[in-house]
Amino acid sequence: MNFVKKEIGELSGNPFNQIGKDWFLITAGTEESYNTMTASWGFMGVMWGAPSFICAVRTNRHTFSFMEENDVYTLCFFDEKYRPALQFCGTKSGRDFDKAKETGLTPFVIDGAIAFEEASRIIVCRKRYAEMMKQEAFTSAETYDKWYSSDPLHKQYIGEIISVYEKE
Ligand SMILES: Cc1cc2nc3c(=O)[nH]c(=O)nc-3n(C[C@H](O)[C@H](O)[C@H](O)COP(=O)(O)O)c2cc1C
Repeated sequence: MNFVKKEIGELSGNPFNQIGKDWFLITAGTEESYNTMTASWGFMGVMWGAPSFICAVRTNRHTFSFMEENDVYTLCFFDEKYRPALQFCGTKSGRDFDKAKETGLTPFVIDGAIAFEEASRIIVCRKRYAEMMKQEAFTSAETYDKWYSSDPLHKQYIGEIISVYEKE
């Protein structure tokens, strides 16, 4: 697998491209029971003095219950050739499919969380804060109406980045 642990200051690349254009997988659970889904929204930065990542998961995702039940989870980033796998994980539910079997991705345990061998970068996070978005907190009704008139709200998770690995 050849994953090498990196210092946070060694990370390169543009987060807007890596998160918003390339997408990533949020994976939570244990070896016995986990789920993964594609995400393209998120923030990488510093919170409470620690490298952190914020992701947002709608409450109707199968992944949601795994995020609720587990403190440690991963964010896996991939090369372009895995776009079809990320497309699958972003349009099908783990309630209906074994996503690893369908995509050929290979799950493995790292730092007590589940990641995929095919990833180019793995960020392992420990949940520090989790909060449901609330309709009354939106200062832009337009934003609420655009994103939540027919779909449930997101719960946002601020995770401390506890380790980062990249493939050599
Ligand atoms: C490009 C892309 C980005 C997505 N980003 C998010 C996201 O940030 N948060 C979210 O809740 N769902 C997001 N989704 C939708 C979930 O990935 C999708 O509903 C998935 O099927 C959920 O799988 P699950 O039910 O197995 O958890 C995204 C989907 C795609 C294709």
